[in-house]
Amino acid sequence: MAKKITVIGSINMDLVTQTDIVPNRGETVLGNQFFTIPGGKGANQAVAAAKMGAEVSMIGLVGDDAFGHEYLGYLRKQQIDVRNVKPVTHGKTGIATIVLSEGDNSIIVVPGANNMVTPELVESLEKEIAASDLLLLQLEIPIESVERAARIAKKYGKQVILNPAPFQHLPETLIENADYITPNEYEAELLLASVSDSASLRKKLIITKGSKGVTIYEGEQECHQDSFKVETVDTTGAGDTFNGAFAVAILEGKPIREACKIAAAAGAISVTKLGAQSGMPTRTEVEGFLSDRKGDSA
Ligand code: RIB
Repeated sequence: MAKKITVIGSINMDLVTQTDIVPNRGETVLGNQFFTIPGGKGANQAVAAAKMGAEVSMIGLVGDDAFGHEYLGYLRKQQIDVRNVKPVTHGKTGIATIVLSEGDNSIIVVPGANNMVTPELVESLEKEIAASDLLLLQLEIPIESVERAARIAKKYGKQVILNPAPFQHLPETLIENADYITPNEYEAELLLASVSDSASLRKKLIITKGSKGVTIYEGEQECHQDSFKVETVDTTGAGDTFNGAFAVAILEGKPIREACKIAAAAGAISVTKLGAQSGMPTRTEVEGFLSDRKGDSA
């Protein structure tokens, strides 16, 4: 039977405004372009993993509204199992307002239905978690639910990857139950400062640093994966692409450094296009990119 990834996390519709000038408080400016694009760290990572060829099942909530229904149809087209993504009437589909300027972004997320992914809901899907091989988590749903999901996955001996974004203080049990924790540089600094036992946390860290590459901790050893140089259009979702691709490589039993190289390549390709999910590469694209760039990155 094919191995399966379950992603429990957020589903947002991204409302993206591209502008040359980012307004100051109280200021109005004229932007250039506006797009409505599927996003949310959970769904982004699910799509990234599916594009890399994995069987992916998503657990999350959308509103019973136009964005929610559009999103469900879209996820189905990406071959993602959405049996456990229900539209709820008591909350709206999560929204991310994204201002994109000079290839960088600032984001405000209004979680809506994502906040209704409760620990009880997660617990009711214990069988679903038990039936998958790897659980991929982020922090755009309540942290108690993330913690519960990781605990269930570990009970059944499943691998757990936690992308601790956006930053929150992590309960000790969540750190214990995660096999890999994948913050960006900024989140890593906050995380390491927030725990009493930073040595145990450090052993699980894969720190993504954008154009500065990836720092990998293999037990006591620290090593580095360079980034791949590309023309950056939009960095939104690059970390999510990394996480989805990394999860697939780990699921396939690739050594951690190779998994990071594949994931770094996927992340690099993703920033060459606008939108979190529009730039996510297929497996064939990643393999082609890696063979073209042989020798480009250590
Ligand atoms: O990581 C990028 C994502 O963060 C966006 O798609 C947005 O929805 C926010 O959740």
